[in-house]
Amino acid sequence: MKGIVFTVFNNMIEEKFGLKTWQALLDKVQPEGGGAYTAGGTYSDAELFALVTELSRQTKIDVPTLIETFGIYMFPVLAQKYSLFVQPNMDLKDFLKSIDSVIHLEVKKLEENAELPTISYIDPAPHQLIMLYRSPRKLCHLAMGLTKGAANHFKKDLSIEHPLCMHKGEDHCRLEITFE
Ligand code: HEM
Repeated sequence: MKGIVFTVFNNMIEEKFGLKTWQALLDKVQPEGGGAYTAGGTYSDAELFALVTELSRQTKIDVPTLIETFGIYMFPVLAQKYSLFVQPNMDLKDFLKSIDSVIHLEVKKLEENAELPTISYIDPAPHQLIMLYRSPRKLCHLAMGLTKGAANHFKKDLSIEHPLCMHKGEDHCRLEITFE
């Protein structure tokens, strides 16, 4: 997982739960580099999951909620870093449909060791979009948070249903989005 994911996670924890919580997490998890993450580095997925699991234990907030909150928090940071892909007048649905074939594809060209999900789309009606999410990391709640973060960014409302989930044994997650 790219360092930016870790630096943003660190910032979110310090901002929402305080520096003490971040330090308590590092004490418990004992990450290899001591938790001094840099945006340009690459770190193990297991380390991120260990930090989230420990945060959940300390805050009593469930892991899916924490990961979704993290996605909402992370979107503006990604949007700023890769501002080329986030044009101000874009339609939210068109933007979401561009994640797999444009944004993540370009990210992969820029960052060879980025590990990205596969997202395919069903477009059943103008106010709906179905995203089929597949990734060995099973970060569907991050996908939901990033989607909500994108809606905030474009000042639009949406709701998401999640009727099929890899965490319940399916081979993909089905995210059914309704635009208000
Ligand atoms: C400006 C828009 C976006 C940019 C620049 C971007 C870029 C990235 C980057 C750099 C990573 C980290 C890769 C790594 O750690 O190796 C990532 C991961 C991810 N992205 Fe995006 N992303 C964007 C929007 C979205 C949106 C809206 C979704 C919602 C479906 C999404 C879904 C994900 C997921 C779920 C991951 C975690 C990796 C995985 O699931 O395997 N991204 N993205």
